[in-house]
Amino acid sequence: MAIEIKKVAVVGGGTMGRQIALNAAIGGVETYLTDSFPGVLDKVAAWSKEYLNGRVAKGKMDSAAAEAVSKRFHLVPKLKDAVADADLVIEAIVENLDAKKELFANIEKVCKDSTIIVSNSSTFPPSLMAVALKKPERMANLHYFNPALHMALVEVVVGPQSGKETIDALVAFAGKIGKTPLTVRKEIEGFVVNRILQAITNEAWFLVENGYATYQDIDAGAEKGLGHPMGPFRTLDLAGLDTILDIRTAKYKASGCKEELRPPKLLAELVGKGHCGRKSGQGFYKYDK
Ligand SMILES: NC(=O)c1ccc[n+]([C@@H]2O[C@H](COP(=O)([O-])OP(=O)(O)OC[C@H]3O[C@@H](n4cnc5c(N)ncnc54)[C@H](O)[C@@H]3O)[C@@H](O)[C@H]2O)c1
Repeated sequence: MAIEIKKVAVVGGGTMGRQIALNAAIGGVETYLTDSFPGVLDKVAAWSKEYLNGRVAKGKMDSAAAEAVSKRFHLVPKLKDAVADADLVIEAIVENLDAKKELFANIEKVCKDSTIIVSNSSTFPPSLMAVALKKPERMANLHYFNPALHMALVEVVVGPQSGKETIDALVAFAGKIGKTPLTVRKEIEGFVVNRILQAITNEAWFLVENGYATYQDIDAGAEKGLGHPMGPFRTLDLAGLDTILDIRTAKYKASGCKEELRPPKLLAELVGKGHCGRKSGQGFYKYDK
């Protein structure tokens, strides 16, 4: 039988960590969130209160349930206090491999022998991070999607060192918090969902750059022809065109400037004009700020 996850610790209270933690608390799990930067936990306290009040106001949750969630959602400044008694620790700190490895080694010093330790990283596969652990079989990735409170899927990424008990427990945990688990059975760059998104986006860029269709028509094709909620260019606007350009430029340089990986001209032009997508009020499309 899979190890039952009754207590969760989340490390990192930024965009993802706070939502991952609140989602677990809403799912009935005792949850401890910690962050190493002063002030973050105060912001999370205000944010979670506003979120739960909003759910009650919209009739999506009754006030007794919201109160119970608040009682299960603990904000603790010290790493040790968050992880000491946790069945599962979810790491959601900055995307820096050395920082993550240092953190995993510190977590293992103070957590239980049976604690499962996962990363929410979108890019680092579990085997790269598990080298920091004495018990690497306890590590996998549990990859959420933004906004983690609402997106229904998590990827359970299996590393070559991940134990079967670890994976079984994570799949069961996903069900408990209302998510559908997609098990990525072998490590691969981008895992599954982002690879599919990448393939669609690459094709969309090819069609635009070579004059086969406009980006508006391609979005209409994906939305009305395939039933996607958002076409590829609307999705890029949401993600932030500057961030996308940074990622593509880094990949292009890392490849030794392979021509097929050169960032699209139109992307660089838009970012050059300060059109970074939804957050700047203009990307491919115009938005009310
Ligand atoms: N943002 C996304 O859309 C998204 C989606 C899926 C996965 N991810 C992954 O989630 C992780 C976090 O991303 P994010 O966007 O939430 O980042 P973020 O920058 O919003 O938050 C990171 C938080 O970690 C804290 N932190 C940094 N170092 C720490 C440490 N050593 N100990 C404790 N806290 C520490 C920071 O204070 C900050 O609050 C990354 O690994 C990223 O790949 C992000």
